[in-house]
Amino acid sequence: MGKSIMSLGGWLSLLMCALAIATMNGQVRSQDKLNFTLLETAVPIGAVCLDGSPPAYAYVEGSGNGSTNWIVYMEGGGWCVSQQDCLNRSRTYLGSSQPQYTDQRGVSFTGILDSYTEFNPYFYNWHKVYIHYCDGSVYMSDIDQVDPSNNLTFRGGRIYDAMMEEMLHKGMGHAHNAILTGGSAGGLSTILHCDRFRALFSNTTKVKCVSDSGFFIRGEGELANESGRHFAQVIATHELAALLPRSCTSKRDPNLCLFPEYLVGDIATPLFLVESAFDTVQISNNFIYTVRGGWGPTQWSNCFNDLAGCNSTQTGIIKDFGAIFIETLLKLNNSWSGGMFVDSCYLHTHILERYNWICSPSLHNKLFGVQTMGQAIADWFFEGSSFRVIDSDNVLPQRCRAPDNAKICLAPSIS
Ligand SMILES: *[C@@H]1O[C@H](CO)[C@@H](O)[C@H](O)[C@H]1NC(C)=O
Ligand SMILES: *[C@@H]1O[C@H](CO)[C@@H](O)[C@H](O)[C@H]1NC(C)=O
Ligand SMILES: *[C@@H]1O[C@H](CO)[C@@H](O)[C@H](O)[C@H]1NC(C)=O
Ligand SMILES: *[C@@H]1O[C@H](CO)[C@@H](O)[C@H](O)[C@H]1NC(C)=O
Ligand SMILES: *[C@@H]1O[C@H](CO)[C@@H](O)[C@H](O)[C@H]1NC(C)=O
Ligand SMILES: *[C@@H]1O[C@H](CO)[C@@H](O)[C@H](O)[C@H]1NC(C)=O
Ligand SMILES: *[C@@H]1O[C@H](CO)[C@@H](O)[C@H](O)[C@H]1NC(C)=O
Ligand SMILES: *[C@@H]1O[C@H](CO)[C@@H](O)[C@H](O)[C@H]1NC(C)=O
Repeated sequence: MGKSIMSLGGWLSLLMCALAIATMNGQVRSQDKLNFTLLETAVPIGAVCLDGSPPAYAYVEGSGNGSTNWIVYMEGGGWCVSQQDCLNRSRTYLGSSQPQYTDQRGVSFTGILDSYTEFNPYFYNWHKVYIHYCDGSVYMSDIDQVDPSNNLTFRGGRIYDAMMEEMLHKGMGHAHNAILTGGSAGGLSTILHCDRFRALFSNTTKVKCVSDSGFFIRGEGELANESGRHFAQVIATHELAALLPRSCTSKRDPNLCLFPEYLVGDIATPLFLVESAFDTVQISNNFIYTVRGGWGPTQWSNCFNDLAGCNSTQTGIIKDFGAIFIETLLKLNNSWSGGMFVDSCYLHTHILERYNWICSPSLHNKLFGVQTMGQAIADWFFEGSSFRVIDSDNVLPQRCRAPDNAKICLAPSIS
């Protein structure tokens, strides 16, 4: 692991992307963005958002030889950690499907969900589903009781089930190929639901899961104490202890069983992890700041937007986190054989960004014979080829966003 030059293949893929753009005149096409459909039939069975509104999804029908293939993406957006926190969330996009919160949003189908062959030659014509995240519980909660004073409702698990039921009605059960995926909290949900998703299909269907930035680590030392407290709060608030995978809860403290490092070894369905060793959310929002003096995201904003703006304290925290993150992944080697694409980019979530998915050379300067993240995941899915690459050369994060002045893969884009 020591290559630091971009090979011919990397430049070629950039060039191909530039050509693809040229053919599209940089125009924004309306079908890039889809509106949500409310799943009203879920309301009678109590599968509702935090505020009691129906769950929502966006869907693009498959076509051609994609018409027997399905990809289901679960939206992310953190979680809530107390009644008050969840009540606040219920009055936002992440806790509701009410039009005042979702109206102007729509969903951009880009990256792994892209409908353009140029940007997504592997999955462009599959049936594609994007599930709105509005339960605050990583699609897991199932509490019967509703607080009548505010109608706050905890039903993420039911939403997951109702969505699957809806897709089975649309024919997903007959799929030849199926992928469950999601980013951030949706990536964590992918890990939690992967085997249950597999069980929806017959054994002749190829079913795999791709978790993007869902590997929230417990880590070690003071980090483990803080991250452990944080997830214990999530588990308590949403009453998840009895709902988490029994393969984990039967062996250890259920409070540990929301951490992927204790889950992936027991997942039977092929699972691929897309991660950054310097995940900005894990570094700034959730865990580390509580360790070192209670910083919140605002104290990170200088550094978050521009790595050059980080001071020495922040750089130290970032370095330490990256080392613990990689160590945590390496410890999985004996118990788990899934795919891994772990870059050293300073970002959170990858696969819905065209640049990361298809335009950026694999791991930014490590090619390992594969040009892009999209290609790595497609080969792993279709050919069953193993792919486990961790960019551990960089002790500090890299800036991996498309350069501001590059036309490559920036257009057509939706702002
Ligand atoms: C989405 O909804 C908006 C507002 O109702 C509408 O103008 C737009 O045409 C819809 N988009 C699609 C793709 O249906
Ligand atoms: C669909 O057809 C295209 C073009 O023939 C081919 O490249 C691709 O591999 C096929 N995809 C699947 C999933 O069969
Ligand atoms: C909920 O929102 C209120 C009003 O904006 C705010 O004062 C309070 O701190 C929030 N509570 C939590 C737990 O986020
Ligand atoms: C709770 O929901 C019920 C039924 O939709 C409604 O009648 C009631 O006004 C709601 N209560 C609050 C506090 O929003
Ligand atoms: C697939 O399922 C069928 C029917 O349940 C069973 O007879 C068959 O042995 C299974 N095949 C494999 C490869 O597991
Ligand atoms: C973590 O918590 C345990 C139990 O409360 C405590 O004994 C230990 O000192 C803590 N470790 C660190 C590194 O803070
Ligand atoms: C770095 O920035 C943080 C947050 O603004 C601040 O608390 C800390 O004291 C700074 N450290 C140094 C060495 O300047
Ligand atoms: C674990 O797997 C990674 C990725 O294949 C590899 O780089 C690393 O050397 C392995 N670590 C151990 C301890 O085997």
